[in-house]
Amino acid sequence: MQNKPLLVVEDLYHSYQEGGDSRPILNGINLQVAEHECIALLGRSGSGKSTLLNMLAGIDTPQDGRITIMGQNIHELSELDRTLLRRRHIGFVYQFFNLIPTLTIAENVGLPLELNGYNERDIRKLVGLLLSDVGLGDRWNAYPDQLSGGEQQRIAIARALIHNPSIILADEPTGNLDAETGEHTLRILLGLSRQLKRTLIIVTHSFEVAEKADRIFTLNDGVLNREGEPHW
Ligand SMILES: Nc1ncnc2c1ncn2[C@@H]1O[C@H](COP(=O)(O)OP(=O)(O)OP(=O)(O)O)[C@@H](O)[C@H]1O
Ligand SMILES: [Mg+2]
Repeated sequence: MQNKPLLVVEDLYHSYQEGGDSRPILNGINLQVAEHECIALLGRSGSGKSTLLNMLAGIDTPQDGRITIMGQNIHELSELDRTLLRRRHIGFVYQFFNLIPTLTIAENVGLPLELNGYNERDIRKLVGLLLSDVGLGDRWNAYPDQLSGGEQQRIAIARALIHNPSIILADEPTGNLDAETGEHTLRILLGLSRQLKRTLIIVTHSFEVAEKADRIFTLNDGVLNREGEPHW
């Protein structure tokens, strides 16, 4: 690995309780992601991809194992410090966009900056730049429900990138779009994160998308297998 690891996952275990049964989902996940790397994560529905991504974002807590981001074990941090780390260093793109319907798209995109205490002038400037980057510079005052699905996802991408996060976690960012729109949206996400030298972990069902990443992993039976390497 050329660059130092930005994210280290060690022996991650998690199971969900259902009735009296325990269903293991993550069964010893190990992964190191370098700065500026792009990782694709494949796996059948229900294999635990979203569970893993939510843990990497510090949204959920694993039963066992360790996640270190920029040298900090995120589960040793207080709730507040974990929230601050997420706010400053992580950008998340959700499958269903998760835009706030009562805010304009400019306000949605600027929200991470507002939470990080930027002043209004800087927010306007950065929002303008990023809205142009995703090709929606003329829709500043629109509300999310006035945009198409692909446009909403481009807004969600702008929101995930605006605070210059170290890591972008994208959970099937095109799962809800038609193939052509999805392809266009992904080109924007991959292009911007490469251009801005961000680290990207992207969950996808598409092998075509995965091929654009530096490394591809498949989550199967709770463990990660690197594609292109023998599995046993
Ligand atoms: N809070 C929960 N309680 C119980 N089981 C859960 C919970 N959240 C997820 N699961 C189960 O864990 C498994 C993994 O779910 P997860 O959402 O991580 O899958 P996924 O790989 O993201 O699937 P998809 O491709 O459909 O999005 C599924 O079987 C799901 O039903
Ligand atoms: Mg999922």
